Amino acid sequence: MRILVLGSGAREHAIVKSLIRTGTEPEDIVCAPGNPWIANEVECRTDIDIMDELDVSRIAISERIGLAIIGPEAPLVAGMADVLRQQGINVFGPSKQAAELEGSKNFAKEVMKSAGVPTAGSALCHTLEELDEAMDQFGAPYVIKADGLAAGKGVLVTEDREKAIEHARIYINEGVLVEEFLDGEEVSLFFLSDGKNVLPLSPAQDFKRAYDNDEGPNTGGMGAYSPVPWLPENFVDEVQENIAQPVVSTMREMDIDFVGLLYCGLIVTNEGTKVIEFNVRFGDPETQVVLRRLKSDLADLLLRACTGRLNHGPKPDFSFHATVTVVLASEGYPTSTAEAREVTGIEKADAMESIEVCKGGETGRVLSVVGHGDDIKKARTRAYLGLEQIHLEGSFYRKDIAEKVQ
Ligand code: AMP
Ligand code: GLY
Repeated sequence: MRILVLGSGAREHAIVKSLIRTGTEPEDIVCAPGNPWIANEVECRTDIDIMDELDVSRIAISERIGLAIIGPEAPLVAGMADVLRQQGINVFGPSKQAAELEGSKNFAKEVMKSAGVPTAGSALCHTLEELDEAMDQFGAPYVIKADGLAAGKGVLVTEDREKAIEHARIYINEGVLVEEFLDGEEVSLFFLSDGKNVLPLSPAQDFKRAYDNDEGPNTGGMGAYSPVPWLPENFVDEVQENIAQPVVSTMREMDIDFVGLLYCGLIVTNEGTKVIEFNVRFGDPETQVVLRRLKSDLADLLLRACTGRLNHGPKPDFSFHATVTVVLASEGYPTSTAEAREVTGIEKADAMESIEVCKGGETGRVLSVVGHGDDIKKARTRAYLGLEQIHLEGSFYRKDIAEKVQ
């Protein structure tokens, strides 16, 4: 079976590596558009624009694709999964309608409400008066979220009321969500869904802030580790039972089959685990650490999800090894975009034992170095050792990823 992976980031590189590691022949994988590092492993079609319906259908047909995996949220929210399904192709990725779970935070809240899923209290505001009222209701720290996709820039958490209002003003016409602040540790847990059944992958913790000690602006994620040893033993089962399964079942009742990856962004609070967001695709950089530990055949799991057969076959199996990834970001990320500069040392790091480099774009989050070992501490040492081999002028990375984990 020929597999198409859509996207060009470190996440897609990690997906490609995982497919190969778990049994797919590199010749059977095509990545579009991919990047020069992914092209070292599989064929990349740089001529394809993944937001262009014609391009995407054309490549799927000409390459006789049996399974398409859509990496980023933008093509999903734009309906690219529907375009491919209309061509009779198995697609791992939700329809346009189902992708609204990520595309509209308000839609996600409504689904959670119907499904009885624990989440932060919230109010949708369309005017500054409504905003003022909601901020009084929930109090500081203020959590302000753009309702729609905002390329990772839509959320601001601040004690400063003026800054909160300033941020809300940018998005108020399309709708802004004011949320109750949830205090606790964040965890990401991915589920495969076939529209009816869900199967969990292994939990990971992501580091969202740009700088050490969780300071600086929110980013797409600066590092991650998996598994998460401090979680209670029944954590995964509880999230499946109380969150992922009810969401997928509720959507099915709404006639919306969710086929693809349900990313549960969670906060473990004193009152239990609550949802802060859903995404409808693999997380970046969590995928780098989660899939590095996957032992089961990834292509088989994803195909089962696409064909309503998730429960027909083995559950995802993970190694007991621990993995840590640290992201190298270009100068100024996430507030400004640096010019593309040459990166050196990637091959050297990648060739070292227990180290893998997943390459992203030329600017922004440029790459993630993944280390693995018997425990988090050893995995962390490998990841940082890998980073020491790599040089990119002006770049930076967090020094404290997984530092506090035993
Ligand atoms: P989101 O894009 O919704 O995940 O929000 C980005 C980041 O903002 C999250 O990873 C959290 O660190 C923070 N955040 C979002 N919602 C809340 C909340 N209700 N309480 C506390 N922090 C939050
Ligand atoms: N790492 C967070 C995300 O993928 O949205």
